[in-house]
Amino acid sequence: MKDVYILSVETSCDETSIAIVKNGTEVVALTILTQMDTHANFGGVVPEIASRMHTENITMVLEETLNKAHMKVEDVDAIAVTYCPGLLGSLLVGVEFAKVLSYVYKKPLIKVNHLIGHIYANKIDNKMEFPVLALVISGGHTELIKMTGDYEFEKLGETEDDAIGEAFDKVARVIGLPYPGGPNIEKLARDGHDTYKLPKPVMDDTYNFSYSGLKSSVINLVNNERQRGNEIRKEDLACSFQTTAVEELTRKLELALKNTDIKNVIIAGGVSANKYLRGQIQELCDKYDAKLNLPEFIYCTDNAAMIGAAAYPLYLKRDFADLELNAKSTSSIC
Ligand code: KG4
Ligand code: ZN
Repeated sequence: MKDVYILSVETSCDETSIAIVKNGTEVVALTILTQMDTHANFGGVVPEIASRMHTENITMVLEETLNKAHMKVEDVDAIAVTYCPGLLGSLLVGVEFAKVLSYVYKKPLIKVNHLIGHIYANKIDNKMEFPVLALVISGGHTELIKMTGDYEFEKLGETEDDAIGEAFDKVARVIGLPYPGGPNIEKLARDGHDTYKLPKPVMDDTYNFSYSGLKSSVINLVNNERQRGNEIRKEDLACSFQTTAVEELTRKLELALKNTDIKNVIIAGGVSANKYLRGQIQELCDKYDAKLNLPEFIYCTDNAAMIGAAAYPLYLKRDFADLELNAKSTSSIC
């Protein structure tokens, strides 16, 4: 079969990224331009600034990617783009850009859901074996999905309130760490111990998650200690929070491993870059004799390579979008 090259575009949040991916698994070139430093000045992503910066930078990111690949747009087989979920203004920049490329170069257009992109990051340089349990853990989502084949999803559970990444970011802010909170909590937690008593995961038998209780209890604890004039042991608090947050995930994943007898597990989304979390999930998978697939760190957080990987099965099915394609801020996998 002829090799398939997909040029993919990702602008759903604060990374402008373009990749060329071969046969859905091999990254020929990838460029990620992050706006993190700009947004850090504001303590979080400012949507208006994000979309303006995507507009300013996207052509340069395309050129850099094509140069790295020694390819021209004419050489690729399709153009893929993230169309949901994310910041509407940011998504629109990528969608309109991809539509122009598709029209001018007469290439089919493929629309990709960002969360499905995170899942397919597991296919890069790797095989995804089905059935598989996918834990999608990002800034906006916490979902446990069962996949029986390509694009065959069944949602087992999701968060009832906050997403895990959101909880990391809010807790980071309350203890005075800069944006993005997740990686900074992880760093601080390495020097701490799990000494603070925080509410443990609810022992129910659903696959749903909850993070708002944990988040609020950290915020209340910090406020109470400050009012009393007590010092907060930030390292210990970061460690206690991270331990409890990860326990909520492992408990539900363990339930699914027991109940379904599925022997493949993948983790997807920005929070899957957390090394402590990766270690805990690996231990759990070992206990159940399940194979854990971990994407490389660069493919865990937002990047266009995962969008190219997720577009490949759609390319094979000739599942193409037309130029009426619009961006959508909200969406779930299934
Ligand atoms: O997938 P992602 O890059 O963007 C979304 O689609 O949301 O995920 C971003 C989230 C943020 O909440 C960030 O704090 C979190 O992933 N994150 C981490 C780590 N790296 C990124 N959380 C915990 N530990 C990390 N190392
Ligand atoms: Zn993401």
